[in-house]
Amino acid sequence: MTTPSTSLLEPSLLELPAWRALRQHAKEVSKTTLRQLFENDPERGTRYNAEAVGIFLDYSKNRITDETLKLLLELAEQRSLKQRIDAMFRGDRINVTENRAVLHVALRAPKGQSILVDGEDVVPGVHAVLDKMSAFSDKVRSGAWKGHTGKRIRNIINIGIGGSDRGPVMAYEALKHYSQRDLTFRFVSNVDGTDFVEAVRDLSADETLFLVASKTFTTLETMTNAHAARAWALKGLGGDESAVAKHFVAISTNAKEVAKFGIDTANMFGFWDWVGGRYSMESAIGLSTMLAIGPDNFRALLSGFHQMDEHFRSAPFEKNLPVLLGLFTVWYTDFFDAQTQAVLPYEQYLKRFPAYLQQLTMESNGKHVTLDGKRVETETGPVYWGEPGTNGQHSFYQLIHQGTRLIPCDFIGFLKTLNPLGDQHAMLMANVFAQAEALAFGKTAEQVKAEGTPDWLVPHRVFEGNRPSNTILAERLTPEILGKLVALYEHSVFTQGVIWNIDSFDQWGVELGKVLAQKIIGELTSETEPKMAHDSSTTNLIRKFRATR
Ligand code: F6P
Repeated sequence: MTTPSTSLLEPSLLELPAWRALRQHAKEVSKTTLRQLFENDPERGTRYNAEAVGIFLDYSKNRITDETLKLLLELAEQRSLKQRIDAMFRGDRINVTENRAVLHVALRAPKGQSILVDGEDVVPGVHAVLDKMSAFSDKVRSGAWKGHTGKRIRNIINIGIGGSDRGPVMAYEALKHYSQRDLTFRFVSNVDGTDFVEAVRDLSADETLFLVASKTFTTLETMTNAHAARAWALKGLGGDESAVAKHFVAISTNAKEVAKFGIDTANMFGFWDWVGGRYSMESAIGLSTMLAIGPDNFRALLSGFHQMDEHFRSAPFEKNLPVLLGLFTVWYTDFFDAQTQAVLPYEQYLKRFPAYLQQLTMESNGKHVTLDGKRVETETGPVYWGEPGTNGQHSFYQLIHQGTRLIPCDFIGFLKTLNPLGDQHAMLMANVFAQAEALAFGKTAEQVKAEGTPDWLVPHRVFEGNRPSNTILAERLTPEILGKLVALYEHSVFTQGVIWNIDSFDQWGVELGKVLAQKIIGELTSETEPKMAHDSSTTNLIRKFRATR
């Protein structure tokens, strides 16, 4: 592999004029409060908004001023964000450490658009796979695809992990409203046998289809579960090996390993090395999503992604939703010492969205060296976490409101519900607006006293406020809107990564544990006492496990 070109040798972040100015400016902003900022500018709530492709962002409850925005936008300029966006869309090998292009945007490019990788237009290939997925989905959904005994498929189990699981799980839950309800979907990811055993315990093999989803087709968890599934299916189908063809399909970039596993490559749905695992839910990895919601809804999902891609690529930064979100994250991470970012969807169907974002954001920006291999000079990716509202309110919101840490929050809500039930949707949305208001403005000691609270109790009932949040609204949760939301966060992550000059598309940090586990598996299972060269703690733990065998 060639070494990174000199263009990656960005100037020190700390030396950039915008960064220096932001450091000074943050001191000023720290002295003021959201209460004051709103009092000084009655229009703030309508001024600090941006809307694009059906997504409305109210960013007025952030601890920012016009000057902050100006400096953050200058920072984006000085970090050449525009050029970096263009490089991604052009198919440059911006995943430097893996020497790969990063082209999840090509997965949602409409027919006729052309995106070149090494001189070859990849868009026709994307649509060929989509067409193959559509034909297969139609067959399974209609019952035309028969299992080994001639019965139609009723159960679909996706076996995958990381990007080959989290996107499919999240999308299935998010779009359940649009799903074909006479099909059962389950997702097996953990190497813990319980995951597989529980997933199949009430299913019969002759009605079950396994989707083995793995970019590499070598991942320990997935291959172990795929072998368990094969054994389970063959047992249930009388041991006839030819049954595999009707009950297993593969989603992978690795045809050789797929064939080795025994899946006919005619039943393989491919993708490409320029699709990162955590950026793959709309590739063939989304086959379970398509089976659930049907090809037309899947194409609507892709259209949503694409609309946000175009917005990100072309909108001026001051109106660019992913750019704004990304810059705010940098602002709080590096100038306010925020260590986490909460994502709080007020939509039950988005219950797995925060978990999905954890891989997207933290595998991407959990990096401590820059593209040119130097130690970063600032904090990078925050911890993303969250739960759907209102459940979180009765759990961890206490800490967000009155704890000692600053936790920027993204509230996500919808103007219309998919399941109207009395006034419940208004109640839900009242909570979104109330929480963001309470966090920003709090409740002063004077207000608490005026309610007749005894003096000793006053400090406990004061809300300092000044806690920042974004409110993201869309009309209704649809496949198209889901695509826009995911792309919004994908490109926010990219924006952050450009400012920090890190590789948001590799994941070397997951390697060491994998390698050590392989070694320890042998030590845990060997018949004879293994020779070990671990530290005393690890050795002791291994012995403890072995003693029970
Ligand atoms: O966790 C590391 C990782 O490589 C992820 O990036 C990826 O999504 C996951 O493992 C699964 O990989 P694969 O799809 O190759 O099985």
